[in-house]
Amino acid sequence: MDWGMKNRISKIIRPEDGRTVMLAIDHGYFLGPTEKLENPGKIIKPLLPYADSLMLTRGILRTSLNPSVNIPIVLRVSGGSSVIGENLSNECLTTSVEDALKLNVSCVALSIFVGSKYEHRTLKNLAKLVDECERFGIPTLAVTAVGKEMTRDYRYLALSCRIAAELGAHLVKTYYCENFHKVVEGCPVPIVVAGGKKFPQPEDALRLAYEAIEHGAAGVDMGRNIWQSDFPVAMIKAIRSIVHGNSTVKEASEIFMQEKETFQAA
Ligand code: R5P
Repeated sequence: MDWGMKNRISKIIRPEDGRTVMLAIDHGYFLGPTEKLENPGKIIKPLLPYADSLMLTRGILRTSLNPSVNIPIVLRVSGGSSVIGENLSNECLTTSVEDALKLNVSCVALSIFVGSKYEHRTLKNLAKLVDECERFGIPTLAVTAVGKEMTRDYRYLALSCRIAAELGAHLVKTYYCENFHKVVEGCPVPIVVAGGKKFPQPEDALRLAYEAIEHGAAGVDMGRNIWQSDFPVAMIKAIRSIVHGNSTVKEASEIFMQEKETFQAA
């Protein structure tokens, strides 16, 4: 692995502990103006100091983030389908590696849809992207997207993660599930977990992060459970304490409550 590639990966996964808190705000690429993410620049501003990297598309990067900001960028470069279209899995590469380089990104990300109608296409996207990005020392994060018809069990997620790694992904993002350690065991590259839809209670999202880390995840790539929270800064601080501070769910919940009270008192 060349120096540039290693350097970029070290910006995503913190070398001190091998962990990461990625803040995902790429949802609009197929969901449109998702609730609470209508104005991405505004919602993420207070969260940036607590995120190790930011995952988003080039359109939101250009329009919502000041270029002087000092946060590593994970650029989503796949898309082409919407939530109201017929085939969500029918994705292509939407951004060139040249543009990713111009945007000075630390990593590129794309979705694969294993088991879907467009499985082959999305896996070819991954292989092509890895080939192109290897030339410039840019790591690739594969997102194991799950169609409505797919079961999020460890057999399916282990299959998807392993295929992503076999095709050359440097990092994989997937979902937490029962027997998650088996997903991790079968995947030779670091795994980060998505948060999924917002849980009714913050403790549930904290527990997900805690259990994922306990069972071998390198961190989280979390979106809705942070920025759809009524107290997003409290939430990201609590998540961060689990990922980088080894907090228990109880300790992280206490951090959340303290931060919430501080916010309400201000
Ligand atoms: C989904 O495809 C997007 O890439 C999101 O980045 C991902 O789902 C993580 O966000 P959330 O924690 O809201 O699920």
